[in-house]
Amino acid sequence: MAPRGSVGVALAVAACALWLLPATASGALRVGFYQNSCPNAEALVRQAVAAAFAKDAGVAAGLIRLHFHDCFVRGCDASVLLTKNPGGGQTEREVGPNNPSLRGFDVIDAAKAAVERSCPRTVSCADIIAFAARDSVKLTGNVDYQVPAGRRDGRVSNGTEALDNLPPPTATAATLADMFANKFLTLDEMVVLSGAHSVGRSFCASFFNRVWTNNGTTPFVDAGLDPAYAARLRALCPREDTPATTPMDPDTPATLDNNYYKLLPQSKGLFFSDNQLRVNATMNALATRFAANEAEWKQRFVAAMVKMGHIEVQTGRCGEIRVDCNVVNPSSSSSSPEVVELPPGEGEEEEAVGVAVAAS
Ligand code: HEM
Ligand SMILES: *[C@@H]1O[C@H](CO)[C@@H](O)[C@H](O)[C@H]1NC(C)=O
Ligand SMILES: *[C@@H]1O[C@H](CO)[C@@H](O)[C@H](O)[C@H]1NC(C)=O
Ligand SMILES: *[C@@H]1O[C@H](CO)[C@@H](O)[C@H](O)[C@H]1NC(C)=O
Repeated sequence: MAPRGSVGVALAVAACALWLLPATASGALRVGFYQNSCPNAEALVRQAVAAAFAKDAGVAAGLIRLHFHDCFVRGCDASVLLTKNPGGGQTEREVGPNNPSLRGFDVIDAAKAAVERSCPRTVSCADIIAFAARDSVKLTGNVDYQVPAGRRDGRVSNGTEALDNLPPPTATAATLADMFANKFLTLDEMVVLSGAHSVGRSFCASFFNRVWTNNGTTPFVDAGLDPAYAARLRALCPREDTPATTPMDPDTPATLDNNYYKLLPQSKGLFFSDNQLRVNATMNALATRFAANEAEWKQRFVAAMVKMGHIEVQTGRCGEIRVDCNVVNPSSSSSSPEVVELPPGEGEEEEAVGVAVAAS
């Protein structure tokens, strides 16, 4: 663990610093960041999201997850959008947790095109993802929040890092808690954010092993899964790679609500990881509370989304404003930063000022 005193030193020597959470209290990002430089930015993103949502309401769930998967890998820097790994090898968007399930890329592209027409080279792709997630929460959950902005786009996408940092649907309670703690998110915030699974869908692969053994030849029911529900899932998914999807919340699949927490005690959490929120008494107490109080959950959900949006952000002169969200800018004017790695030792302290780690 880095002693607190070393933080200032790291800031001073780092040519270009990433903000590690909790950067929320330190003003790393700012609501209304584009007020002068691109006053229409947030409205243009909202219009692009609304247009896509009108054609396919499922994109909202996709965009909420896109923000999560962006922020958990290299911070909220739009690295998830890149189609090339400059070091060779797979990109984030090519690997299992994102491919083929992650969606909403075309919506980000449409929003970026609109924003570029209005104010070229001004609005980062990372901020567009954060705005689009907010707009999606509003459209599906009828709850709004302000998004602090000023994120800069990264120049690296590495598939291995996605595999290492994104929680798998087979994760235990302890692993879930650890993976969120690594991103400065508390156990409570993990439970709160999991409620996003009240919208959207899943492919077979994410729950196949809960309902089948022996390569799809023998039924198996994870003890945390309702047998009748499991039978329906088996019928849907004869093979792990059957290209079918199913809603995670079959009751209200298009509405961001607290129904996720109501499904858990019915053994209808779709993933092993969802059911883990029941087996841990601390998590279960919170889930029970949210099942009974939707208003409290929504309030805490948007607060946790804002906090998630601060993970390891690059600001100021770090990173770049990508012109095309799918590829890094042709030649970088950004200086190569000095690397100073600090472990996230101060993570549990809500009040800690932004801790810096250099960009790579
Ligand atoms: C707690 C750990 C989490 C795990 C293990 C997890 C796992 C998954 C998995 C396996 C899927 C389905 C992928 C597929 O199609 O096969 C999924 C979908 C989804 N997740 Fe999570 N997730 C977690 C947390 C979150 C968080 C924090 C958010 C957002 C705040 C989120 C939002 C979503 C959404 C909206 C979908 C549906 C996407 C769509 O319909 O396109 N998840 N998640
Ligand atoms: C990707 O990240 C992994 C894990 O941090 C690292 O070992 C590997 O060298 C990286 N690959 C590329 C191509 O940068
Ligand atoms: C729940 O999980 C967390 C994280 O692993 C752990 O700290 C806590 O002690 C667990 N609570 C109970 C009651 O088992
Ligand atoms: C099928 O399952 C059996 C028994 O679990 C295993 O030994 C075998 O490798 C599996 N075959 C395939 C193709 O996955």
